Amino acid sequence: MEILVTRRLPGRALERLAQSCALDIWDKDCPIPKEKLLARIKGKEGLLCLLTDPVDAIVIDAAGSLRIIANYAVGYDNIDIRAARERGIVITNTPGVLTDATADLAWALLFSVARRIVEADVYLREGRWPGWDPNLILGCDIFGKTLGIIGAGRIGTAVGLRSRGFNMRVVYVDERRNEVLESHVGAQRVELDDLLLASDFISLHVPLTTGTRHLIGERKIALMKPTAVIINTSRGPVIDEGALAEALRSGRIAGAGLDVFEREPQVHPGLMKLKNVVLLPHIASATVSTRAKMADLAVDNILAFLRGETPPNRVV
Ligand code: DGY
Repeated sequence: MEILVTRRLPGRALERLAQSCALDIWDKDCPIPKEKLLARIKGKEGLLCLLTDPVDAIVIDAAGSLRIIANYAVGYDNIDIRAARERGIVITNTPGVLTDATADLAWALLFSVARRIVEADVYLREGRWPGWDPNLILGCDIFGKTLGIIGAGRIGTAVGLRSRGFNMRVVYVDERRNEVLESHVGAQRVELDDLLLASDFISLHVPLTTGTRHLIGERKIALMKPTAVIINTSRGPVIDEGALAEALRSGRIAGAGLDVFEREPQVHPGLMKLKNVVLLPHIASATVSTRAKMADLAVDNILAFLRGETPPNRVV
């Protein structure tokens, strides 16, 4: 089986894959351009791709004989699921292994925004610190506040469980009850509007679908407390970035911590100017071991498919 791999991956997983398949690896440190993708996918039966590769019907049809798409990410909104399903192509993702790294980063953002960590670091490095001052860079408390989790799947649950040390009230929105969150941190399942009204910190953990695109826009932001902080480690388009930039600029809400953006790698220019938002380049899963485990999982999925088994992380 010939497989197109759209980036060198951390760890040794691709060496394992190369023992069973012929690999064509896009070797550059940037996403494969569409025309190169269309040319190189021709005749391939497998595609190991990244969240930066839009895999639509045109790409799938250019391959001619594609049988499996193994996405190196838990989110797979970059793939046209309907087109793949109609053509009988299997799609896999990499869930589970990045849960803790992503939950850790959501908390890192929460702390950074609440305690103005990035701003304080820049201030000090710029040599502007005259000495201790009772009014210098005052942030907001975390202990005892209300954490709202939108999407209480694996990552949302892990974020909620980490609140234990901070004596927080946890509210969540999900299609299903989350008994782990309810029993471990006394979380309450609520409606989205009630969560937005009640939360001091709001963390997004929903996949990007037609139903969640711009889930948080001007009207939802209007429900939030003026002191609220929103954290997004899910997918950028879940928030209307223009509306968020305006809410942060005008002080309608207090802050935001964003690891994902609507048009990556571009960031809304309105956000770039603001001090009350911490901006990260989509690094929630970026730990050495997590990224290697993601590669292992993507490869395990392809190898299982080759053996005629159902891949462990089949989503379609
Ligand atoms: C994912 O897996 O979907 C993350 O966004 C990147 O690790």
